[in-house]
Amino acid sequence: MELLTLPLIISFKKIEVAGKGSLIVGESEKEIPFPVKRVYWVEGALNDLEVRGNHAHKTSVQVVVAMKGAVRIELESKEGETFSFHLKNSDEGLLIPPMYWRKLFLEKNGSCLCFASKEYSEEDYIREYSVFKQ
Ligand code: TYD
Repeated sequence: MELLTLPLIISFKKIEVAGKGSLIVGESEKEIPFPVKRVYWVEGALNDLEVRGNHAHKTSVQVVVAMKGAVRIELESKEGETFSFHLKNSDEGLLIPPMYWRKLFLEKNGSCLCFASKEYSEEDYIREYSVFKQ
């Protein structure tokens, strides 16, 4: 967990099932490099480039996977270092360490899946950008 300080693209194993499509798999503490405590999904974006997120987490590490439509993710550290990612395929995910301000831009009707290292707690959120940058 100590090493999870930089954003990172994760590759999941993709298995082609002959004549039927594919199956993608990731395991807790393997491809997803932390014990997964919670899975949630964001769906039904009402508009193209709908912005979700707009917050930071104090301690939770998360992996985001684009499930339907592409997702652009912009990250900013407290010190002002910025990163931009464009997730298009469900066999890749973005690891977001704690203390990055995140903006997720979903396509209309798009959805993404998120794996989190912590249970839901509002206490873990920083929802004010000015507070994050203090
Ligand atoms: P939020 O994390 O703000 O979602 P987004 O950034 O995608 O808009 O969460 C939206 C609402 O859902 C907020 O009231 C908190 C609640 N929520 C839970 O109750 N449990 C959860 O696991 C998550 C992620 C959110």
